[in-house]
Amino acid sequence: MLQLKVIDTADVPAVLALQAQCYAPQFHESADAFQAKLRATRGLHCSFLAVQGEQPLGYVVSLPVDDDQLPGLDAPEWAPARAPRTLYLHDLAVSPAGRAHKLGHKLVEQVLRRARDMGLQEVALVAVQDSGAYWQRLGFQDAAAPLSTALQDKLDSFGPDARLMRRSLVAA
Ligand SMILES: CC(C)(COP(=O)(O)OP(=O)(O)OC[C@H]1O[C@@H](n2cnc3c(N)ncnc32)[C@H](O)[C@@H]1OP(=O)(O)O)[C@@H](O)C(=O)NCCC(=O)NCCS
Repeated sequence: MLQLKVIDTADVPAVLALQAQCYAPQFHESADAFQAKLRATRGLHCSFLAVQGEQPLGYVVSLPVDDDQLPGLDAPEWAPARAPRTLYLHDLAVSPAGRAHKLGHKLVEQVLRRARDMGLQEVALVAVQDSGAYWQRLGFQDAAAPLSTALQDKLDSFGPDARLMRRSLVAA
């Protein structure tokens, strides 16, 4: 049976194995980078691991942030925001074995639901590996330019093709 469970720091080895299957090496983050984010968000229930039986099939890691406080790629430390307005979907990956289950959509839905429950106003992410069209289908749009210098620096750490995308949770 397919289950979505809240990720714990003990799940980091499974996350790293999935990351290796899903991301090109230049996007790989260290165990320390994942541990820091999971420790800082413990109890917030905003990151999930999809498992079937004992087999991990996908994960999503998200963090409540202030606008300029997105972690850069492989940032070894991260501190929770004092007054977050955004749930930042830092990382989504589904293994080739999991792709028949619409798992990506299911994991994103969990994050959107959690952001609403937390009273946040939007979900944001950095689209890499040519995934912009995927995110557009899920209701995300490119962030309006220009970005602040701090935000642009964070985005640049993901390479020249990275796109900052947002989905508002506030009714227009
Ligand atoms: C992107 C990813 C999470 C999607 O997972 P999934 O469980 O297969 O996706 P879903 O079930 O939600 O959606 C599947 C649909 O998205 C499409 N899709 C998958 N990856 C896509 C991409 N990079 N760009 C555009 N469309 C994509 C599929 O073709 C499929 O289309 P269909 O519904 O018309 O058949 C998975 O392919 C993955 O882990 N990729 C590598 C990591 C990655 O690029 N993550 C996002 C970077 S920010």
